[in-house]
Amino acid sequence: MDFTILTLFPELITSFFEHGMISRGIEKGLIKGHCINIRDFSCNRHNTVDDRPYGGGSGMVMKPEPLQAAILHAKKKAPASQVVLMTPQGTRFSQEKAFELASGNEGLIFVCGRYEGIDERVYTTLIDEEISIGDYVMTGGELASMVIIDSIARLIPGVLGSCESWQSDSFTDDRLEYAQYTRPEEFEGLKVPEVLLSGNHEKIRLWRKSSSLQRTFLKRPDLLQKGKLDVEEKKILKQWGQELENLVRE
Ligand code: ADE
Repeated sequence: MDFTILTLFPELITSFFEHGMISRGIEKGLIKGHCINIRDFSCNRHNTVDDRPYGGGSGMVMKPEPLQAAILHAKKKAPASQVVLMTPQGTRFSQEKAFELASGNEGLIFVCGRYEGIDERVYTTLIDEEISIGDYVMTGGELASMVIIDSIARLIPGVLGSCESWQSDSFTDDRLEYAQYTRPEEFEGLKVPEVLLSGNHEKIRLWRKSSSLQRTFLKRPDLLQKGKLDVEEKKILKQWGQELENLVRE
């Protein structure tokens, strides 16, 4: 999958493509990461990319010509890519959206706005989709585009390597991920649950399911309203109910 970021601050992006799972995904040829400086497409000798808003008001607006030229350049290099504008006005990003973007696209071109935003005519003519990473306003779309690329890239087969572990991630199937432990067996007087040392895969699977349900119940009960309980989860809940009842009776 091909990721292109259009920005006025390419230095913010380059180290992102050069580290961790993302750089390994690029080395393996599973993903591509490009960064394009919008200022390189400025059409005047002062390299201006912004101007005052028509109608007055504070701040500056990103000029249409350099942005259009940068987007067309990116599309020429990756014609099958969707053009996504990073903006707090967009559709809220989620794990579900990450799956959708990871499976349905050959490439994505992220347009990172700065200042008061981009000229509306670029939005009308060149943007396929708007995405927000949350109901807050940042100084630009760069961090948002990296958040989105990071969460999509790890879903692409092979990027996470031998530990293809997104299947148990939080938010997959509307549940939070179960509790994890590693060596030592005892830390600060706290022991690793016995079942995890047992080697019994079925018992471990059920323990993890219960842990996942418990965490979701305590930390994000709203997720339980979204995703239906399966047969095993219903059984686990009934068991908890029974244990609570026993506690009350004692
Ligand atoms: N640019 C500024 N704030 C943003 C947000 N919340 N999401 C996406 N892009 C943005």
